[in-house]
Amino acid sequence: MNKSIYTDRSRIVITCSKRLSPYLEAEVRDLGFDLERVFATGVELFGTVNDCIRLNLNLRCASQVHYSLLEFTAKNADELYRILSEYAWENVIAKEGYFSVTCNVDNPTINNTMFVNVKVKDAIVDRIRGKTSRRPDSGSDLSGAVIYLFWKEDRAEVFVDTSGETLSKHGYRKIPGKAPMLEALAAGTLLASRWDRKSPFVNPMCGSGTVAIEAALMATNRRPGLFRKNYSYMHFLGYDDSIHKKEMEELESRITEEPGLIIIASDNRADAISISKVNAGIAGVENLITFQVCDFEKTNLPNGGPGVIYFNPEYGERLGEISALENTYAAIGDFLKKKCQGYMGYVFTANLELAKKIGLKASRRIEFYTAKLDCRLLEFEMYSGTRRSEKIMKEKND
Ligand SMILES: C[S@@+](CC[C@H](N)C(=O)[O-])C[C@H]1O[C@@H](n2cnc3c(N)ncnc32)[C@H](O)[C@@H]1O
Repeated sequence: MNKSIYTDRSRIVITCSKRLSPYLEAEVRDLGFDLERVFATGVELFGTVNDCIRLNLNLRCASQVHYSLLEFTAKNADELYRILSEYAWENVIAKEGYFSVTCNVDNPTINNTMFVNVKVKDAIVDRIRGKTSRRPDSGSDLSGAVIYLFWKEDRAEVFVDTSGETLSKHGYRKIPGKAPMLEALAAGTLLASRWDRKSPFVNPMCGSGTVAIEAALMATNRRPGLFRKNYSYMHFLGYDDSIHKKEMEELESRITEEPGLIIIASDNRADAISISKVNAGIAGVENLITFQVCDFEKTNLPNGGPGVIYFNPEYGERLGEISALENTYAAIGDFLKKKCQGYMGYVFTANLELAKKIGLKASRRIEFYTAKLDCRLLEFEMYSGTRRSEKIMKEKND
């Protein structure tokens, strides 16, 4: 028994970095899907691999879109091999194709996940060779069909990983710069903010430009699929390219122009601004962003708001760096207070001690996580006398 994966419904698990799932959930619902479950590192729904095409192309906060093929119990690797070699892989993976296997294993009999990858690969290859006298190639690079095994204790589930390479990188950042934010994380923080995607968005200390670029992409409804050519879903038997093409046409047709949109990105390093311009060019939003090489305090922001000003200062690793950064964080606080009336201020940082030096009371402290560090997006409402910003900025996300 085998599924026709592109048209049969099954469980879909979309993964994301820790703490991004509320924003991923909102994105998936916006695309018109109902959800079965939301958990710390992902969401679950039912659908086909054709639905996964749509999800892969559109989602900003996701890492991988997994479509469930089969669930079973396996106590050890031999049992896993036996069950997997009974599955009709010849209907899923082309006998002359290329595939790879990834896994997440927590089973008491296994201490080497590479060994599990090889077992799964052998089961698939042996099955296809037995049925067709040919065998697909396999390897570790995720450019073809990808099969993902989730195996916890004796419960195993095998998925088509419809994404392959992670979706959390959005494909426009060819030059990373210094301490760049993951694109999916940058998008998640913007979705958590109160930016209405119309008012000015100012990003001093922009580094490689990720936050400003994600803001420009969101304001004009440009989706990550516009920048990526290859997904694992293209490499399974039964793939119909016309579905992908139709989704791509829809992505193109939904790009909007936002006349008068102001997005400003500045950094005191000229090389950071050069890198940001290259990255913004690849993302197709260079003309939407005004770049400036300057100290953050000299950034040209429109007076009086409403608008958003978003900082991602360094967190510092060594003691010397941290004491210098104390002054920077304090200066950010002063700048917000004196120059940013009418704005919503945001500071994204993994150093909560340094954050105290900002010296302002945060209206929200939104939890995120990056590179094993606990992070916060701190929100500061910099009211002008009339609390104008509060009235004009939207309540949340939409
Ligand atoms: C953590 S990085 C920002 C990374 C960025 N979010 C990205 O995704 O690439 C901090 C940036 O702040 C810049 N910077 C540090 N001190 C500054 C200052 N006083 N004025 C302006 N930029 C500054 C650095 O050059 C660096 O590019």
